Amino acid sequence: MFGRIDHVGVAVEDLDAAIALYEGSFEMELAHRETVESQGVEAVLLDVGDAHVELLRPLGPETAVGKFVAKRGSGLHHVAYAVADIEATLAQISDAGVELIDSEPRIGIRESKVAFLHPRSTGGVLTEIVQPKAEVH
Ligand code: CO
Repeated sequence: MFGRIDHVGVAVEDLDAAIALYEGSFEMELAHRETVESQGVEAVLLDVGDAHVELLRPLGPETAVGKFVAKRGSGLHHVAYAVADIEATLAQISDAGVELIDSEPRIGIRESKVAFLHPRSTGGVLTEIVQPKAEVH
């Protein structure tokens, strides 16, 4: 069902400090930077092999990531799996009894289609599925 891990999402309070760590100390290439209004974040993608680290700075305290950071501080936020057909995968996952946050895909970073699954039905792991717009790496 899942093709590969597309990215790991990391919530950050200080985006510049996080970029300094991942790009500077960890020598990952900064691949993309975008404000994703639909998710209430400024997001940065860094390359690591075929996957990415996605740094997420909340645009405000009322956003999902803003609430996360207020409650738990910076840290691991979600894991995202790449799928070929997000609508079909969502239907299949829903039929399997997994609770969806997004019953319909929304537009995420780099015009990908994304949907989140509820952590209370995924063992506490906020899980995203993503269908990239094209094979962008
Ligand atoms: Co993500």
